[in-house]
Amino acid sequence: MAAARAHWGSKFGFVMAAAGSAVGLGNLWKFPYITWENNGGAFVLVYLAAVVVLGMPIMMAEILVGRRAQLSSVPAFEKLGNKGWSTVGWLGVVAGAVILSYYMVIAGWSIKSFIQCMGWSISGYEAPTKDAFGQFLANGPLQIGLTAIFTVATAVIVFRGIGGGIEAATKIMMPILVLIMLYLVATSLTMDGRDQALAMIFNPDFSKLPASGVLMAVGQAFFSLSLGLGAMVAYGSYISKKESIFGSALWVVILDTSFALLACIAMFTIIYSVPGLDERISGSTVGMLFITLPDLFYTQMPGGIILAPLFFILVAFAALSSTISLGEVVTSLMIDKRGWSRHKATIVCASIIFVGSILAGLSLGAVGPLSNFEIFEGKAGVLSTLDHLAANWLLPLGGLGTTIFVGWYLGKKDTLEELGLTRGTIPFHVWLWCLRIVAPVAIIALLVAVIAGWDFS
Ligand code: PHE
Repeated sequence: MAAARAHWGSKFGFVMAAAGSAVGLGNLWKFPYITWENNGGAFVLVYLAAVVVLGMPIMMAEILVGRRAQLSSVPAFEKLGNKGWSTVGWLGVVAGAVILSYYMVIAGWSIKSFIQCMGWSISGYEAPTKDAFGQFLANGPLQIGLTAIFTVATAVIVFRGIGGGIEAATKIMMPILVLIMLYLVATSLTMDGRDQALAMIFNPDFSKLPASGVLMAVGQAFFSLSLGLGAMVAYGSYISKKESIFGSALWVVILDTSFALLACIAMFTIIYSVPGLDERISGSTVGMLFITLPDLFYTQMPGGIILAPLFFILVAFAALSSTISLGEVVTSLMIDKRGWSRHKATIVCASIIFVGSILAGLSLGAVGPLSNFEIFEGKAGVLSTLDHLAANWLLPLGGLGTTIFVGWYLGKKDTLEELGLTRGTIPFHVWLWCLRIVAPVAIIALLVAVIAGWDFS
């Protein structure tokens, strides 16, 4: 089996596919709205620290495990470790299913925005009313319908196997996404709200950062970089032995982080520039991406009537390249462990996840009990609960398992050989000690602090 393992065509191919997995709703939708909720500056700084200290070393560790074992997550931990270690992989699979359940719902919103923008492009833009987004969220049948479209699209691709498909698609999509993003940012920077937005993002004021924001920043680093659930283990298993793991991971991290920051710059500038928009946002921070950008496209931007629908197609594709990687994590496990055919595995997994998506989709106002129950403080409803559970608990725990496995369990000989580094060199020591001490201590400290209700605000 190992002999027949496919490889990415080039390092560029891997970087685009892995960045395709990493860049998604986490960057365009989630990072801007949680940065807004956590008052910018200090939150962004903690996030960047988490990316450097936890994200980069763990990304390298996951790729290393996949490439060393030439297998996807659960069997990889089992092969390099033992049955016990495969728990780390299983945890990731659960996280993948949880994330997919609600990710599909939000991805569905991009289809609605696309259709709406097509309408505006044809018959003229009409600023939506203040509660239009709330009404959309509470429309249960529409939420389920949109989610169903996205679930089927993902399942069709996973069903066929991704092979050359994902690499070829992401190689085209990602550069276009970069260009559109840069154009968006450049245009937004000519607007009045620019200075206020940049100050909000880059002037840290730690008195404004809630303690829970620190955990959120760490969780977001895992979520955004697609870490902690084995997605990078699977993708790493397809990297050619000739490529440098450090160089490949660095590109993915840089691209992902840039996208997150650029999305904030564009969106906050628009919010501060368009009168009344911040009021509309405060009602539903979750809808920021879908509320702010159409305003910019139609009222400020040359060529906006073409760019608006195009942009939401790209959001949909960014989301799709992430759902495929999540779908692969869940499906490939059933294939590897249960011996199911890819077709059976895809249909069963997609059906189970769709049930979760229905619950998440109905928890945005359509069904009271699903929308109002609260397990985590301030996170009411199924969708928010699943998001919080996965990003702030399951992924950090999966990441913790990976750091301990690679940092302490795997021999230095294995890791050195795979990384192509020499024993005793500074880069190796920095990486190893981040993985052995800094990352686990930081993750454990945070989890303990939050369980204990610690609050430094
Ligand atoms: N990183 C993706 C995003 O930012 C989400 C994701 C998480 C994808 C985990 C795969 C694995 O949208």
